[in-house]
Amino acid sequence: MKSLKTFARGLLAAAALCALATGTQARSFEDIKKDGKINIATEGQFAPFNYFQGARLSGFEIEVAEAMAARMGVKVEWKALGFDALLTGLRQDRWDMVIASHGITEERAKAVTFTDPHYCSGGVIIAKDAAVRTAKDLAGKSIAVQTGTSYLENVKKLAAVKEIKNFPQDTDARAALVSGRVDAWVTDKFVALNSLKANPDAGMKMGDFLFVERIASAVAKGNTGLAAEINKALAAIQADGSYAAISKKWFNEDIRCK
Ligand code: ARG
Repeated sequence: MKSLKTFARGLLAAAALCALATGTQARSFEDIKKDGKINIATEGQFAPFNYFQGARLSGFEIEVAEAMAARMGVKVEWKALGFDALLTGLRQDRWDMVIASHGITEERAKAVTFTDPHYCSGGVIIAKDAAVRTAKDLAGKSIAVQTGTSYLENVKKLAAVKEIKNFPQDTDARAALVSGRVDAWVTDKFVALNSLKANPDAGMKMGDFLFVERIASAVAKGNTGLAAEINKALAAIQADGSYAAISKKWFNEDIRCK
């Protein structure tokens, strides 16, 4: 009995030490408010949602996050990292929030806390061959997707696919299609529309949705106070017309979840 207690105490002490050493205590909204700035991580390679215009982060999600932060009364300190590092960094308290077009999935929700969705979209099939449009058409084909995405997860579910090629960046998955190394590319519908418009001579054609998803920001698992403040700010900018203006600017339509 006694040794069990001692063991438990030892475990607790070890956990506390770990938290100290790695700084695993997520910042509350109050901490952030006191500091005056919220640290937000994104990728910066997923136009038109988050991407670099020269040295400057730009895109729909950058503007939505800035508008939400303004509502919350804080400034944004941006960090740009590889897509794979974003959710992991939340667990290590390296930033307060992530906004990088993450679809809400059960798997991810085990590791992070999602906010309300800031847009609804889905993965579409893009190919050069107009006959490759639907999930069925992907049988026997090789497909390019970004590593760590819901596109990869959903393409994996297709039975008869010949090969899935993973790329750290979505822009490399697109390049694989354009150069003919794969038969199809699966990415977000609005990313696809943007790419088709930017590369009209590349011969890419957009097919059907493979799946649809709700896209949200994430905070550290259990940081529900911060999530609630972000949700309040999102609701406010959706109510006062500023979200609609940002959405129209980037997409010519309002892409909020209906
Ligand atoms: N919506 C997809 C997902 O949930 C892709 C997100 C990719 N985001 C990015 N910044 N590259 O996985």
